[in-house]
Amino acid sequence: MIQLLLLAAVLLGGYLLLTQTLFKRSKCKGNAAMAGKTVIITGGNTGIGKATAMHLARRGARVILACRNRSKAATAIADIEQATGSTDILYMQLDLCSLKSVGSFVDRFLKTERRLDLLINNAGLVADGRTEEGFGIEFGVNHLGHFLLTCSLLERLKEAGGGRVVTLSSMAYRWGHIDFEALQTHKHLGTGSYSWQFFQAYCSSKLCNVLFTHHLAKKLQGTGVTCYCVHPGVVRTELSRNVSLWQKIFIEPIAHLLFLDPETGAQTTLHCALQKGIEPLSGRYFSCCAVQEVSAHARDDEAAQKLWELSEKFCGLAA
Ligand SMILES: NC(=O)c1ccc[n+]([C@@H]2O[C@H](COP(=O)([O-])OP(=O)(O)OC[C@H]3O[C@@H](n4cnc5c(N)ncnc54)[C@H](OP(=O)(O)O)[C@@H]3O)[C@@H](O)[C@H]2O)c1
Ligand SMILES: *[C@@H]1O[C@H](CO)[C@@H](O)[C@H](O)[C@H]1NC(C)=O
Ligand SMILES: *[C@@H]1O[C@H](CO)[C@@H](O)[C@H](O)[C@H]1NC(C)=O
Repeated sequence: MIQLLLLAAVLLGGYLLLTQTLFKRSKCKGNAAMAGKTVIITGGNTGIGKATAMHLARRGARVILACRNRSKAATAIADIEQATGSTDILYMQLDLCSLKSVGSFVDRFLKTERRLDLLINNAGLVADGRTEEGFGIEFGVNHLGHFLLTCSLLERLKEAGGGRVVTLSSMAYRWGHIDFEALQTHKHLGTGSYSWQFFQAYCSSKLCNVLFTHHLAKKLQGTGVTCYCVHPGVVRTELSRNVSLWQKIFIEPIAHLLFLDPETGAQTTLHCALQKGIEPLSGRYFSCCAVQEVSAHARDDEAAQKLWELSEKFCGLAA
């Protein structure tokens, strides 16, 4: 009997500890006016991106869902319109697996939209494979496609005055490592293809997001545009759709017990989008709606610059 009570106490204690650390909740208090402003959200059709779109639509923003699948986007738009009453949400085709698709998205956007106030680089995946141009898919989608997208839209962001770029990273950046040799010779953040290695490549792509934001802030100094990266928390979404069955069996029960719902998972993104006065924190990493310190390898100036230059070269932007 006493053992059972002890066990119950330990389980409860563990649960409470986890909900105060890894699975901690927070709420965005930012309330910048969004009426008349235009937002792009990549991968806004599901998960954290959809919850973010929902909130910004409710605040009156014009929301552009930059997604790869028209029918999934149409379903999401119908849901958001129904929930918010907004009629200012539209789909524009963007497949981050293809730099060509990023180029045509940018052309279309610049031709048809007059302003851009907020770019949310939210899309991401954990998977194995290669992009259209032969890059490792996690490097290609999570970092490189967003790199080209952001660089191509910077002028429009500057025109709006006070524009922001929010990039979804992850605490997984801590286990990331950038092997520039491998990147240059294999266009990949890691070699091999079994699931541990593509998890490793995911972590490294999330490190790219932090280093990208770190360097972007320097480039943006004095322009009025600021940038932030985000760990959204551990959130119940479709992100694990491509992990193996065994991993799913392990993850599912914990996910139902502890993972945040997408609405809660969108709060830190919203904080970086809507909170006034955080401009001096441009380039920094946020979680639980607050700025956080990152480990040394994620604020390494030299690595950030090297990644920037290599990304420019890969995207054909280098002078
Ligand atoms: N969930 C978590 O616990 C967690 C933790 C840390 C960081 N994050 C980050 O949060 C972000 C959002 O993830 P989520 O959890 O909301 O995952 P999700 O539910 O799987 O949503 C990911 C979104 O990205 C889109 N996407 C994937 N590949 C794309 C491509 N090639 N082109 C355009 N869009 C593409 C997906 O579109 P389709 O539906 O068409 O595939 C989907 O809309 C990601 O960057 C992820 O790394 C999540
Ligand atoms: C888009 O999503 C729908 C619904 O999930 C799916 O049936 C369809 O195959 C997808 N289309 C493409 C081009 O991936
Ligand atoms: C992810 O899994 C789906 C099936 O669940 C498959 O159709 C798709 O090709 C996979 N994507 C990648 C990038 O591995």
